[in-house]
Amino acid sequence: MTAAVDTAKQKPAPVPEGSVMVTVKVARFNPENGEGAYWDSFQVPVLPTDRFLNVLIYIKSYLDGTLTFRRSCAHGVCGSDAMRINNVNRLACKVLMKDLLPKGDKTLTMTVEPIRGLPVEKDLVVDMEPFFDAFRAVKPYLMTSGNEPTREQIQSQADRARFDDTTKCILCACCTTSCPVYWTDGSYFGPAAIVNAHRFIFDSRDEGARERLDILNDVEGVWRCRTTFNCTDACPRGIEVTKAIQEVKRALLFTR
Ligand code: SF4
Ligand code: SF4
Ligand code: FES
Repeated sequence: MTAAVDTAKQKPAPVPEGSVMVTVKVARFNPENGEGAYWDSFQVPVLPTDRFLNVLIYIKSYLDGTLTFRRSCAHGVCGSDAMRINNVNRLACKVLMKDLLPKGDKTLTMTVEPIRGLPVEKDLVVDMEPFFDAFRAVKPYLMTSGNEPTREQIQSQADRARFDDTTKCILCACCTTSCPVYWTDGSYFGPAAIVNAHRFIFDSRDEGARERLDILNDVEGVWRCRTTFNCTDACPRGIEVTKAIQEVKRALLFTR
């Protein structure tokens, strides 16, 4: 988030050559003005080379400095700009405008809202703490016992491949906040927490699998998943989220 811009000092908004005007409807919410949530609309000149994040930065820089959203890397790595764009969870920096711009005289209207299932703090910013609470609850770190190792722990390529997919998670919350079970009952751990448990449960060097499986066998754990695949579709890292959840379920069934 950056500070609000003094609109009186703003320069006229530039319109780059070759840009196309797009209507962007933004879900706004400011807990300090008592207005509740409402839709705001902006006309933004967009180039095919823009990402959707550029569109938001344009609005904040030239049209309304109070617009609030998170972003950091702008390259799909930090996971901070997850939002619901045209009704689908996406990272704003990975949405390429060239894929959306209309051909000919058609016009484009886009919507952007905060991700669902987490409390909205302001505009597109949600409170991520409940999400990280679930992540921390599955003990997402290597657990070993006994003597401190004096050399690296060797792992075969096949053993490393067992959990390769789930190492790619950037904790953006696109999956968890696209899950209908999470929307209706926020106490469900959610797919991201299970993905990060999977990453260690299937690591041949780890000794905490039993403990994590017991945690996920809980009433709010993996059995709440209804295998709807929303999470897999939403993951910007292409992780097979639902498959990872199924593997954890199977591990529970075969170790009971
Ligand atoms: S597959 Fe399971 S975790 Fe993923 S969105 Fe559906 S119910 Fe939620
Ligand atoms: S599994 Fe994918 S969608 Fe879910 S938090 Fe990790 S990177 Fe984001
Ligand atoms: S800004 Fe870092 S992932 Fe989009």
